[in-house]
Amino acid sequence: MKAEIGENIEIAAEILKMGGLVAVPTETVYGLAANALNNSAVAAIFEAKNRPTFDPLIVHLKSVSEIEKYATINSKKLLKLISHFSPGPITFLLPKKNNIPDLVTSGLDKVALRIPSHPVMNALLTVLDFPLAAPSANPFGYISPTTAKHVLDQLGGKIDYILDGGSCSVGLESTIVGEEENKIVVYRKGGISVEEIEDVMNEKVIVIAHSDSNPAAPGMLKKHYSPNKNIYLENTSINIPFEKTGFLGFSTFHPEVDKKYQFLLSEKADLKEAAQRLFVGLRWLDEQKIDNIIIQLLPEHGLGEAINDRLRRAAAE
Ligand code: TXA
Ligand code: MG
Repeated sequence: MKAEIGENIEIAAEILKMGGLVAVPTETVYGLAANALNNSAVAAIFEAKNRPTFDPLIVHLKSVSEIEKYATINSKKLLKLISHFSPGPITFLLPKKNNIPDLVTSGLDKVALRIPSHPVMNALLTVLDFPLAAPSANPFGYISPTTAKHVLDQLGGKIDYILDGGSCSVGLESTIVGEEENKIVVYRKGGISVEEIEDVMNEKVIVIAHSDSNPAAPGMLKKHYSPNKNIYLENTSINIPFEKTGFLGFSTFHPEVDKKYQFLLSEKADLKEAAQRLFVGLRWLDEQKIDNIIIQLLPEHGLGEAINDRLRRAAAE
């Protein structure tokens, strides 16, 4: 049975109250949500996504004032970032309280908390008296969804309802930050750029780029966001037949690849537009009758850093 796509917040809320799974819109990507305080509902998320339980989940809250119900804010620096960027595309790692099940954090003592800014998601959180655990609503390791249709295509058979909130305005997952030894650490680049964070903090932050070896974030795997084609970064030496090849570029076409298999992220070279279109472009290319995709890296600043992070992971062996 395929899930229904709809805009009905009451239906979504009823399913969640009964311990079911609902795909939800956020400003970053669609999430696969369940009651974060209900162990068996959370277990169903891992099962539907085929996600290993060592990869912890983000918990979504309706407002900043809810944070202290579920975690301790023991860092002035993080408090500053929370007040500056939430609600929005940023997630905070904070010492968890006992009401957060160990399954949500994979047994870690910190929980990842985020206050999304999407109006439909916020309306949903407001009618619930529990927070929502939600990873991106894609099968484990595949491209994240930025429309309700993406979710339907990939997980439709495994969930109860898809709450449609339109196309995601940011298009990249949230930036994940925490504090270690009095320093802000970025564990995943995302919708808020490292530069924006450094501007607010007035100091350099530590960026842990590929955190797959970092025990604090076991789920940030090097290979991720992966289409099913062979992926090559443009700046590496490639020896492939161009007629079976597509191209994902920033603002200009590849001279040798057939134009009908090319996807430009932003013709006006705008990084925000490129972020919005990134996962749409990767999916579109993955559906074409080609074997290979050449990927061009974007300028390495602002949102370009997070986009390039996803592109490198998509291309990783
Ligand atoms: O924008 C987003 O963050 C989206 C939307 C739906 O909110 N969610 C998302 O979730 O991207 P997911 O599960 O695809 O990625 C969450 C990342 C994982 O890499 C996980 O390892 C890390 O957050 N994470 C979650 N809880 C953690 C924890 N307690 N400690 C360390 N890393 C954690
Ligand atoms: Mg994900």
